[in-house]
Amino acid sequence: MEVRAVLLLTLLGLLFVEPGFGQRGDMESSEWLKVELIKNFQDKLEYVDKLQHDVDALEARLNMTVDELTRQRGEVDRLNKENEGLQKRLNATEEEIKKLKQSSAKAAPHIAFSASLANSRETYSGPCTERTLVFKRVFSNTGSYDPNTGIFTAPVNGLYYFGFSTYGYNSHITGAILMKNGVRQISTYENPSADGSDGGSNAAVLQLAAGDKVYMELWDNGRVFDNLNGHTTFSGFLVFPV
Ligand SMILES: *[C@@H]1O[C@H](CO)[C@@H](O)[C@H](O)[C@H]1NC(C)=O
Ligand SMILES: *[C@@H]1O[C@H](CO)[C@@H](O)[C@H](O)[C@H]1NC(C)=O
Repeated sequence: MEVRAVLLLTLLGLLFVEPGFGQRGDMESSEWLKVELIKNFQDKLEYVDKLQHDVDALEARLNMTVDELTRQRGEVDRLNKENEGLQKRLNATEEEIKKLKQSSAKAAPHIAFSASLANSRETYSGPCTERTLVFKRVFSNTGSYDPNTGIFTAPVNGLYYFGFSTYGYNSHITGAILMKNGVRQISTYENPSADGSDGGSNAAVLQLAAGDKVYMELWDNGRVFDNLNGHTTFSGFLVFPV
């Protein structure tokens, strides 16, 4: 609009100057000049209108861009905040996992053993008065199973898995009993029979206190057999401490 005002003033100035020309012979050419000036002025006005229109359009686009930028900045702020929150939670989770790892490593000592009866040639055990079976061929043992006595001693309070299998011939009762501190828990049992040989297996999860003793015993008049094929076995491990 200011450009328009300047142009208007300029034109007015020219019109004021014009009568000063005075001479008759110049009248026609001065009329023509006026017409030309007005026409020129109209062109300029149109041009200025067009410019103004362009400027308005540009301003509108600029405003849209500014709006968009503002919106995006808001979005970025929001995302940053969200990211920070997630980072905090992730950090807390990592910290928790670290603690859990440490405590579970502490709380779950590695306790396991596995053994079979015979460590060299064929072995018949029983019938006998000292009926505890001593499994001599040790496959693994973290130290709680004593291969000299056949006794597993629980190092910590916990739930323990025990599994065993027995094998024998038909001349005697065959099978064995899982004992805890002198008390029968579970067993395998086969009467003497005509089919030559028999095997059985069993397993249990026992709750033990530190110091409890677990071992296998023969039945009265019972016998079991083993060789390096590992027919008669005894295994156990800590499931978890309690
Ligand atoms: C652009 O934004 C300014 C400031 O908010 C406002 O005064 C102006 O009218 C807007 N222009 C257009 C074309 O929307
Ligand atoms: C998360 O942990 C990283 C690395 O330890 C640290 O740089 C960042 O500042 C922590 N972030 C928060 C939100 O606690």
